Amino acid sequence: MYLTKDQERMLSGEEGEVVERMFRLLVRLGDIYGADRMIPIASAQVAGVSYKSIGDPGLEFLEDIAAKGAKVRIPTTLNPPGMDLVDWRELGFPEDFAEKQLRIMEAFRKMGIMMTATCTPYLVGNLPRFGEHIAWSESSAVSFANSVIGARTNREGGPSALAAAICGLTPNYGLHLDENRKPSYLIEVKAELRNTSDFGALGYHVGKIVKDKIPYFRGIREADVDQLKALGAAMAASGAVALYHVEGITPEAKQMDISGLERVEVGEQELRAAYEKLNTGSSPDIVILGCPHASLKEIATLASKLEGKRLRKPVWICTSRATKEAATRMGLTGAIEAAGGRVVADTCTVVSPIERMGYRTVGVDSGKAANYLPGFCKQQVVFKSLDELLEEMMA
Ligand code: F3S
Repeated sequence: MYLTKDQERMLSGEEGEVVERMFRLLVRLGDIYGADRMIPIASAQVAGVSYKSIGDPGLEFLEDIAAKGAKVRIPTTLNPPGMDLVDWRELGFPEDFAEKQLRIMEAFRKMGIMMTATCTPYLVGNLPRFGEHIAWSESSAVSFANSVIGARTNREGGPSALAAAICGLTPNYGLHLDENRKPSYLIEVKAELRNTSDFGALGYHVGKIVKDKIPYFRGIREADVDQLKALGAAMAASGAVALYHVEGITPEAKQMDISGLERVEVGEQELRAAYEKLNTGSSPDIVILGCPHASLKEIATLASKLEGKRLRKPVWICTSRATKEAATRMGLTGAIEAAGGRVVADTCTVVSPIERMGYRTVGVDSGKAANYLPGFCKQQVVFKSLDELLEEMMA
């Protein structure tokens, strides 16, 4: 791979041990994937934040490089940690977990990372523009950035996104190149998509079929930002889809040649089968919404549905701190709490230690959460639409 003089200096350790280690990781990745050179990036999104995911080895690594002066060079945002960073005690997060989680956050803070703590960075200030090169981890955010915005990122892991943030560079391969952004499958959607969970069910089904390839959807007449984030998140979890196109909706779709693609039809039957597959439980102990992290619009929708109602079991909606702040100012947090629900900031269902908090069955409207909860959190899952879930939880 071609390296500039400055990059050679980074590799030879002239910019310190941390930069050398991080840059070496990027060069190795570039060599494996046949990159011709490094390219500058506009932003990074770093995943691998929850103590539950990275454990003591991750914590020690982050504290070590932070102590050695690691600093990010570009705007860098952070994925959700394993707890609400303010209300963790009151919500029942274990003390020993919190102590480690707070140390992880401190290490990231020292590196100059924006403490957004969300998987929807594009809703809270890290919004790339069309065609911009970025290095994001967090599969749902990667999918959204590539597909809905038309920015360019590979599906980075936590370490490679952090390395890219510290070096300001990423190897030029994969989805940074035009030729790798073309679809392999034509997905003809015949089913009616009534709500966000239907988009999650569709994503779950299609991700299983296309795996890490790129689907091109035809037949989705309308989809808002929340539905697109649900679709992408579910496909990223059941397959490893990092980019999708939707005819008439996503920005690169019109440039794509779809002749000769393998065609897959998705009707009502396939959608129902996805629901059946993901439903492993019957009566939720708790409903957790906001996967990916809820937008202000989704919080407002929940607040309006709970108006004048009383919940008999807990309902949480997870979001970023910034979004919760705005929701609180709008009276939405108060309205949800008045019904017995909670707006939980920073964390999410999957990366929090809910299995240690007495829950066994979780209700979700997210295809991604439904897919991950059995394995990551030892939970049974009730996967339904928001309206159906709320009906079950009402007093
Ligand atoms: Fe985000 Fe957690 Fe879902 S990181 S996409 S809310 S699993």
